[in-house]
Amino acid sequence: MGPIVDKKASIISFQNVSKIYPNGVQGLKDLNIDIKQGEFVIVVGLSGAGKSTMLRAINRLHEITSGDIQIDGKSITKAKGKELRLIRRDIGMIFQSFNLVKRSTVLRNVLSGRVAYHSTLKTMFGLFPKEDKQLAYEALQRVNLAEKVYTRADELSGGQQQRVSIARALTQEPKIILADEPVASLDPVTTEKVMDDLLRINHELGITIVVNLHSVDLARQYGTRIIGLRDGEVVFDGPVAKATDETLRGIYGEKILEEPKPEGVTV
Ligand SMILES: Nc1ncnc2c1ncn2[C@@H]1O[C@H](COP(=O)(O)OP(=O)(O)OP(=O)(O)O)[C@@H](O)[C@H]1O
Ligand SMILES: [Mg+2]
Repeated sequence: MGPIVDKKASIISFQNVSKIYPNGVQGLKDLNIDIKQGEFVIVVGLSGAGKSTMLRAINRLHEITSGDIQIDGKSITKAKGKELRLIRRDIGMIFQSFNLVKRSTVLRNVLSGRVAYHSTLKTMFGLFPKEDKQLAYEALQRVNLAEKVYTRADELSGGQQQRVSIARALTQEPKIILADEPVASLDPVTTEKVMDDLLRINHELGITIVVNLHSVDLARQYGTRIIGLRDGEVVFDGPVAKATDETLRGIYGEKILEEPKPEGVTV
């Protein structure tokens, strides 16, 4: 018999990862997490639980203190120079605050997803090849914003701006998209649109997506796998169906019990 091979390779792997901030705060405690290609993972936890720290460790926006993080089998923790740039090119990022260049057009913003593929000089002068513009346009179509291609970013609603930032991430042709509280500043209807876009991208393109969320309800509605963090530690990692009220209490502590709930709802 040959070796046992996982049907799907792991695309993000945390191995004994800890992070201590310079001020002594322990952001992450001995994380061991394996995320397979094509998964849609939602990370939940109270404010300060370590969600952003975990997400930023994945593309090394933050250095970790010990352990190793592997992306598609390569250590991003140890990578340097060109190797690091190539690993990062595979990872798109979406922020709560959208991080768009407000006075630029939607197209310019989305095209900036291609910068890692070209020389700085070219992209500084906005010289992107025709194929890139095609990619940008297709990405905008995917989030239903093709008609806004020449609109200035600051003329869009918050939800539209977030969808532009999703299109920018897509234009990067990443294997992974990380989204840190992508809907925290949006109203409920817009929230659904943005979450639906992320889910569709995951289904249609097979891009692995990791989303940080505050809301338990959203996590339940959209998640297939939930990772619960508390004080920098994984306190739950499993399918949504197994995230019982008891589990959620473990993630959120007593705080969740203090919130008044409508009759008949037990959390
Ligand atoms: N740059 C930093 N320097 C020192 N401590 C930090 C820094 N960033 C975060 N922390 C601390 O690390 C812990 C985890 O923070 P993190 O931002 O990852 O939490 P979070 O789960 O994303 O919270 P939120 O829901 O508020 O965004 C907190 O105790 C926080 O105060
Ligand atoms: Mg955060």
